[in-house]
Amino acid sequence: MERVNQLSIFLSSSNINEYKIELSIFLISIVLINLCLHAQMESKKCEGPEIMAFHRYPAIVEHILKTNFSNYPKGEAFHTCMEELLGVGIFNSDGDMWRQHRKISSFEFASNNLRNFSTTVFRDYTLILASILHQASTCGKQIDMQFQMILDSICKVGFEVEIGSLAHELPNHRFAKACDDATSTVTYRFINPLWRLKKFFNVGSEALFVQSIQVIDEFTYSLINIRKAELQGAKATYNNANNIKHDILSRFIELSENPYNNLTDKSLRDVIINFVLAGRDTTGATLSWFIYMIAVNPNVAEKIYKELITFKENQAKEIIEYDPEEEPKPFAERLAQFASLLTYDSLGKLSYLHATITETLRLYPGLPQDPKGVLKEDVLPDGTKVRAGGLGVYSSYAMGRMMYNWGLDATSFNPDRWFNKELFQSESPFKFAAFQAGPRTCSGKDSAYLQMKMTLAILCRFLNFNLIPDHPVKYKMMTTLNMEHGLKLTVIAGQS
Ligand code: HEM
Repeated sequence: MERVNQLSIFLSSSNINEYKIELSIFLISIVLINLCLHAQMESKKCEGPEIMAFHRYPAIVEHILKTNFSNYPKGEAFHTCMEELLGVGIFNSDGDMWRQHRKISSFEFASNNLRNFSTTVFRDYTLILASILHQASTCGKQIDMQFQMILDSICKVGFEVEIGSLAHELPNHRFAKACDDATSTVTYRFINPLWRLKKFFNVGSEALFVQSIQVIDEFTYSLINIRKAELQGAKATYNNANNIKHDILSRFIELSENPYNNLTDKSLRDVIINFVLAGRDTTGATLSWFIYMIAVNPNVAEKIYKELITFKENQAKEIIEYDPEEEPKPFAERLAQFASLLTYDSLGKLSYLHATITETLRLYPGLPQDPKGVLKEDVLPDGTKVRAGGLGVYSSYAMGRMMYNWGLDATSFNPDRWFNKELFQSESPFKFAAFQAGPRTCSGKDSAYLQMKMTLAILCRFLNFNLIPDHPVKYKMMTTLNMEHGLKLTVIAGQS
């Protein structure tokens, strides 16, 4: 097992402009890490690594994420860097607190009500986005494809509020910007030991962090107050059966009424920000990388388009009397008609789209790396000893590009690799770890696929995307794999 320092973690996570110089740096750092690993294994010296990379073999990933899960919590380093932003929410808690959050959120995600409501919300917001993009296509306007609508849909599905960041000018929402700035700062804390000094003097990113937390707190506490007032109003009118909402925030507010649960307004604030950060950047970033990948792989875009056309014909035959000779309709009507065919069940038929999303996540996992604390001394499946009190990292980004895992074409974008005899075949989550695995697997995975498939089915059916020449596409150093300079492109309305 490799022992790495903060510099190599930085190298293995800095802006990697795929297939170019920065990838070489990344690969060199992986090679160095692995050399260290072998040297260490050869000499059988295991002198208590402070930081370890756990992602070399799927068996090791399985060990830390599942078999000996309780020994690898988030850990002190993670808590310290993240606490002001995430508080004691699901992402930043361990033990009983985590179990309580997990129980409620898993219950919510499994509910049919939430699933049906999400399907409608995802469809409605994509229709707005598609009309904005279609309008841009008529005048050749440049677009920065950052998918602000994810914030709208998370807030609608999670807390039943409209925040209106999806307007015709695609504005930069204050709360969204505060989340970006705050996550950027906490990510740098992992690699910059001087952050406490910056915080003490309140300078640079740490000063911006304080302002970002203020914006986040204003937004979240006002949401809590509004929702509490609504719930009380509903109870006061004895009409709670019809008026009480079933979003995640409302359920936590109900639980907070029982003092035994010890849920304060601060805990509710933490629930909101954890939910937003869990769903927004991960899904938004994946959608951006997907659009980028199909823009540079037009053969894949063409296959998706063909799948969507076949899907439309088959679905339409099942639902309405279908006339292939029908007169062409205006864009808005065709858009709405196609969107009406997309349901939770019917989206399951789009297996090539599903594979293309999965292939995007293999190369660009929304959360590229994840740190873990080490509670007690342990021995990994390859015989490496792990000392108590250390920090381990597994990188789904590195795992997605290892030939050891994916063969010689590991760095090629090839959605067909996910098919076996024309059927989509999933991989072990300890090899394809974009959603993590074991007890802490992403609770929003199905919801994320639902949203991504809804969005991309509609966009890829009607629109094509052309990158602005020479626009640099590389990722930004954050907890999530966002694009440093955005994704600048022009949109062209597709075939009818
Ligand atoms: C492409 C989209 C997504 C990816 C790649 C992704 C990935 C992940 C990963 C890697 C984790 C583990 C993080 C950790 O323990 O440090 C995680 C946890 C989680 N995700 Fe997602 N996620 C996505 C979308 C979503 C969405 C849309 C939601 C909900 C709206 C969501 C909710 C959660 C929650 C609540 C957890 C915490 C689980 C726990 O600690 O028990 N995720 N996700």
